[in-house]
Amino acid sequence: MQELQRQTYPDAAAARAELEAYWLPFSGNRQFKDNPRIIESAEGCYYTDAHGRRILDVMSGLWCCGFGHNRPEIAEAVNRQLRELDYAPAFQFAHPLAFEVANRVKALTPAGLDYVFFTNSGSESVETALKMAKAYWRLAGQPQKTRLVGRVKGYHGVNFGGTSVGGIEPNRAPYGELAAAEHLPATLLPENAFSRGQPEHGAELADALEDLVTEHGAETIAAVIVEPFSGSAGCIVPPLGYLDRLRAICDAHDILLIFDEVITGFGRTGHAFGAHAFGVTPDIMTLAKALTNGSVPMGAVVAKESIYETFMNADTPEYMVEFPHGYTYSGHPVACAAALAALDIFENERMAERAKNLAPHFENALHGLRGTKHITDIRNFGLAGALQIDAIPGEPARRPFEIGTACWNRGLYVRWGGDTVQLGPAMIVEPEQIDEAVSILADVIPTVA
Ligand SMILES: Cc1ncc(COP(=O)(O)O)c(C=O)c1O
Repeated sequence: MQELQRQTYPDAAAARAELEAYWLPFSGNRQFKDNPRIIESAEGCYYTDAHGRRILDVMSGLWCCGFGHNRPEIAEAVNRQLRELDYAPAFQFAHPLAFEVANRVKALTPAGLDYVFFTNSGSESVETALKMAKAYWRLAGQPQKTRLVGRVKGYHGVNFGGTSVGGIEPNRAPYGELAAAEHLPATLLPENAFSRGQPEHGAELADALEDLVTEHGAETIAAVIVEPFSGSAGCIVPPLGYLDRLRAICDAHDILLIFDEVITGFGRTGHAFGAHAFGVTPDIMTLAKALTNGSVPMGAVVAKESIYETFMNADTPEYMVEFPHGYTYSGHPVACAAALAALDIFENERMAERAKNLAPHFENALHGLRGTKHITDIRNFGLAGALQIDAIPGEPARRPFEIGTACWNRGLYVRWGGDTVQLGPAMIVEPEQIDEAVSILADVIPTVA
């Protein structure tokens, strides 16, 4: 890597200094700045790095560019929009595209999820959903229903509420006291290792919600938030029957069920949403990432009519704000233009169907790695997959980091997170590209210490 760095910057010290000011998110800054991985352009399933190398991207960026990089349709829509209307106030005013995107999202989400609130990221969508749930119960005459429930190994972004309901310990530990939240147990069971798609065992883990009801009383619980499958913790797929059981317990006790579909939305599961894939409809859904194919930051929260109506029927004058929440850039015109172009691609090119058709090849290729040194589990659903890597005691993230960087040096981009290596190829990926990625992984993984 040192040699690669020198090719771009003849003076190594000057090159290092140039990298100093930028504090990278979720990155080992010290390691990165000594070994920078800089991406300059993209097309389809490939990145080009600062050395002109073509890198096969089997992570859709960060799960967001599922329809392939640099779609010209999106670039043109964004360009056109910037010349027409750069910004319109999001509070008390609106522009036509926001309604269009809301109607398109409503049409795609399961029946009953009909009201769309815009944000700028997955983290903001989660905060919005959690605040919406709490405010809903106050308006519905049950102000004591405030308790939030997440799940161990869940990831719901990085803002305060999302970190609190989140269950990836290294993301919580640095901050000490967070907002109050309960956590269901993770659904990762050793007896499910190497399951293909949904694992067989563990539906009863949903009953932990019943235990929370017994302990605290349903009258104190506002909402449960889960990812249909956990992405950031390494594709943890819900056991058969688990989500149905969670839904049933929520129904029995008047608890709102929130699906965080930031990764699972827009085709990743082989269906439009995880709700369709697993046959369970939540009360609130959080979206982001592929809504604009990752091109412009945008997120959304989709709520059931009964929730929206409760806000609208509040006993306040009509000129009053019903939900004191929103972002300067909620429904930004440029993001909306990108979303409309991305939604056209999603529908016209039948991205969910493509993902569904590619999923068996992806599954077979990934599970072909079974038996490779260091791999203790392989999980997959739709076009998402993860390899569980045997942890070095006290350093679970080390091998995945070494595998990920070695892949990068071989021209393959995968994500390393915790003790896992993750794959989420674009829905336009060719089977041969999946095979190439798996073959590089098969070469690289046994070589790490
Ligand atoms: C399920 C889930 N929720 C929320 C987020 C946070 O999204 P963002 O990084 O856009 O804030 C992510 C990001 O990966 C996610 O996977």
